Amino acid sequence: MASRKSVLAINGGPKAVKTPTGDIFKWPIITKEDEKACLEVLRAGAMSGTDVTKEFEKEFAKWHGVKYCLAHNTGTNAIIGAMFGCKLGKGDELICPSMTYWASALPAMLLRSTIIYAELCKDNLTIDPKDIEKRITKRTKAIMCVHYAGYPCDMDPIMKIARKHKLKVIEDVSHAHGGLYKGKLVGTIGHVGAMSIMSGKSLPCGEGGMLITNDREIFERALAFGHYGRTRGEITLPDLKPFVGLPLGGVKNRMQQTSSAVGRVQLKHYKKRMKEIQRAMDLFCDLIEEAPGLRGHRPPKKSGSTCGGWYAAHAMYYPEELGGLDIGHFARAVRAEGAAVCGPGANLLMHLHPVLNEADIYNEGKPTRIAYSKRDVRQPEGSLPVTEASVKRCMSIPWFKKYRPKIIREQAKAYVKVATHADEVPRD
Ligand SMILES: Cc1ncc(COP(=O)(O)O)c(C=O)c1O
Repeated sequence: MASRKSVLAINGGPKAVKTPTGDIFKWPIITKEDEKACLEVLRAGAMSGTDVTKEFEKEFAKWHGVKYCLAHNTGTNAIIGAMFGCKLGKGDELICPSMTYWASALPAMLLRSTIIYAELCKDNLTIDPKDIEKRITKRTKAIMCVHYAGYPCDMDPIMKIARKHKLKVIEDVSHAHGGLYKGKLVGTIGHVGAMSIMSGKSLPCGEGGMLITNDREIFERALAFGHYGRTRGEITLPDLKPFVGLPLGGVKNRMQQTSSAVGRVQLKHYKKRMKEIQRAMDLFCDLIEEAPGLRGHRPPKKSGSTCGGWYAAHAMYYPEELGGLDIGHFARAVRAEGAAVCGPGANLLMHLHPVLNEADIYNEGKPTRIAYSKRDVRQPEGSLPVTEASVKRCMSIPWFKKYRPKIIREQAKAYVKVATHADEVPRD
């Protein structure tokens, strides 16, 4: 803990952070092995082939213990494949959290479906199962669970609700590769998992996305939607057979094979790298939790749940324990201490964006969000109070890739020092 006597850097005192962070945040880790794998594809002129991709799919499926895996050129397209796989279509509703990257839900409008945003849990940034149930209508087709900033959604009650109402569950695993929910890998609990594995993600390949499922129909529909070159060999379902040769979605989602090659190498080393990240992040979170007002955004220890690779690491912030200190002022003071990262909030809230409220994307004469609904489903400011308040109750924290206790302790000290001197933080 920081001593009560120290003066905050923002008030002219010495900084808590003195040691340079070096390469502790460097990501992705690219070695000669990645380079060799990538060069082999280039030299063979096999960038647009599927042989390396199919090997990658096999390895990815094996890791998750699922029957089917389909690689895509982006996470966004893997998500669209999952939505089409779940038969989202005209007038259907998808329930999704609003605090997420746009691709978790926005593509539903491409399929003429609409999006219903549900609340977040109060103490973490994942969808609230109790709120999901309140938003179910006759038109609800699927629930999108985003394991946001690594934190696994509470899948047991969500699956129970889905069974009761005969809904599909899609898991967006883009922030949580390798994360566990009560001992099960996220992405394998719902009907289908879809995820980004672009360069910045904890499991990076370049640009790419993966879809995993045990449901043959979902797999084949995703394939039929955007993988025309594979339809002849792999489509078996009578409903889809007549259309082999052309993509039902009119799009091309094939993964570029330099990405597949890098993905294979990254996957091979992922468990070890993830373990080190986990150790480093746990140390940081344990340290900041010694101060009032701060909790790591991670599942309780011994719950059998984990944050996987900790993409977009966050902490929760409780101003009521810090004399009402606003998160913006807190974060500014932490950065003044030399902390590498401390930013209030997280992703933009989708339900407040004009694309969801005003844009007539396909010239329907009304906003696309409501073009195919029987009712106006738009959700104005104030409609999701817990979600809207979350913006001021969470913050980004350093995402350590290496377990280097001296550096991690100093970074944590910046947070603890400010929290224990909250009454001295300038509030202008
Ligand atoms: C939660 C989430 N879903 C989906 C995506 C889309 O993935 P991609 O950028 O690979 O298309 C991202 C990417 O950042 C994401 O963070």
